[in-house]
Amino acid sequence: MGLTVTEKLIAASLVEGKMERGRRIGIRADQTLSHDLNGVMSYQVLQAIGLEKVGVDLAVHYIDHNMVQADYKNSDDHRYLQDMTAKLGVICSRPGNGICHQLHLEHWGVPGKTLIGADSHTVAAGGIGMLSIGVGGFDGAMTMAGEPLYLTMPKIVKIHLIGKLPPLVSAKNIILEVLRRMTIKGGVGKILEYSGPGVSTLNVAERSTITNMGAETGATTSVFPSDENTRRWMKAYHRAEQWIPLAADEDALYDEEMEIDLSRLEPLIALPHQPDNVVPVRQVAGLKVDQVMMGSCTNTSLHDVLSIAHVLNGKPIHRDVDAALYPATRTVIRESIARGAYDKIIASGVRIFEPICGGCNGSGFAPQSDGVSLRTNPRNFLGRSGTATAKIYLVAPETAAASALKGVITDPRDLNLAPLDYDIPESFIDDRDLFQPPATEPRKIAIRRGPNLRPIPDMPALPDIITGEVLLKVGDDITTDHICPAGALYIPIRSNIPELSRHAFKVVDDAFAERARKANGGFVVGGSNYGQGSSREQAAMLPRYLGVKAVLARSFARLHLANLVNWGLLPLMFVKGEDLDRISQGDRLTIGTAELKEGQQYSVRNETTKREIAVASPLCQEDLDAIKAGGRLNQAKNKNR
Ligand code: F3S
Repeated sequence: MGLTVTEKLIAASLVEGKMERGRRIGIRADQTLSHDLNGVMSYQVLQAIGLEKVGVDLAVHYIDHNMVQADYKNSDDHRYLQDMTAKLGVICSRPGNGICHQLHLEHWGVPGKTLIGADSHTVAAGGIGMLSIGVGGFDGAMTMAGEPLYLTMPKIVKIHLIGKLPPLVSAKNIILEVLRRMTIKGGVGKILEYSGPGVSTLNVAERSTITNMGAETGATTSVFPSDENTRRWMKAYHRAEQWIPLAADEDALYDEEMEIDLSRLEPLIALPHQPDNVVPVRQVAGLKVDQVMMGSCTNTSLHDVLSIAHVLNGKPIHRDVDAALYPATRTVIRESIARGAYDKIIASGVRIFEPICGGCNGSGFAPQSDGVSLRTNPRNFLGRSGTATAKIYLVAPETAAASALKGVITDPRDLNLAPLDYDIPESFIDDRDLFQPPATEPRKIAIRRGPNLRPIPDMPALPDIITGEVLLKVGDDITTDHICPAGALYIPIRSNIPELSRHAFKVVDDAFAERARKANGGFVVGGSNYGQGSSREQAAMLPRYLGVKAVLARSFARLHLANLVNWGLLPLMFVKGEDLDRISQGDRLTIGTAELKEGQQYSVRNETTKREIAVASPLCQEDLDAIKAGGRLNQAKNKNR
């Protein structure tokens, strides 16, 4: 039997287990990616376990997320990261070079290789034919140290593309269509593999837009084959010799299939506050727009910037709209300037920011109160923009630019523009000197730590009986943005857990942190898909720091589940989903946790209602042992003693 692209990629990096669906496997990374927001925790972990040099062929660190620099905190973190990377053998991209995922695609991504990154959108590299998986900071650190990453062998979904996109309907609409059909839970436990004749109509940047936002389906990753378009991309970025072809075998078997006829797609839009809340733009056309943000790792390649310039063409944006562009990388800026695109965008009155994440995670460019903001980034979770009352809509760059001109949500096809004639250049400007190599004499590097960079708090082992109050009960699809807020006020304190813990669950309940502190710990109860979204491990660390011992939910998102294990917070699932209704906020619960065994059921005693509720943990024995020890860092420290 033949192999899928996914299976070929996994086989190349497999170090433990068999590629059988549902079995635990270990894979080793060829490359790692970290950035300044999640990376601070990764490098603190590496310091804590005493690592002297990374154990992978290539490790690249990017400074792109935490860039407001309103005071010393961001700058101190940047210095710490530059010192740590120089010492440990990691290549560092300095502030201003661009957004990690696009830079990696331009300069380091190699078809056939495996990339593990401490960011959920690491999966963007699937567009170049890599196996790319996003993890939390702890797993990112372990991968950098050369340890395997363990995961459950996912199912493989074939997404068969036929036809060709119509003019002014760009690649973002393909992934919005996937989200519309599959929903934010539909990809859990799966890898999305693209195939079919439609693939050859998409360049690598377009493919990366699709794989990037595949994270929003909950999928482990997404992948495209490596073909002639991939070769042209590698050649244009001066790396032709690293290209290899990669395609599924004729008789490869998939677990599920979906077909999308690109020629039948129209401009789509995700309504607040979930990326799968997708409808045609026409359905909401005419709604007044206050803000437009064009940017993020999903949508500011050269192709995207030229599309935006094509739509704006120097015409003034609507007087009631505040619009901004965050380009992907320094190379994109230089290429755009060379083609006159920047002139057209600036002439329109669009604000030009540097190539950083910026408004995507609320780090600047927050909308007005109750504002309607159209964005090309991948997430529209409540509060993520930095304004809790704002309504975020996700669109393709052409829809964003057309709406900025008109002041209302606008289908770009209504502007009657000629199609954009774009093909990737033969050769992009050679910007490879953007990167700082590691130190040649690492022992001489002294690590500078600022006062905001607090040591990782001790996480004690799990007691044999856990008892306490249900401190918070939430609904379905709680995101890591709900648990650990994004935004310019909170991002600079991500490496200061005691301070950040004061804002845990702020988006849903401002009083949670104080209540947890006073109660000296307890439980959190949630619905389905608890912890979806970003890979930030602080969403596990903050409740844990505040004394929460277990989270009871109907189901958990993959990345957050791993973070709960890493930081010793016990995830438990209701055996009968309806039992969720038998627990209320404020109830007192007791669970015996002296022995944690894989596959075992536990009885939760609701002391308030005097009822017993059956729960089970979705974890394997290795993960349960980590929880019992108080988390993986404790295990790693014990091993190194
Ligand atoms: Fe940055 Fe937003 Fe992408 S925070 S990595 S631009 S999803």
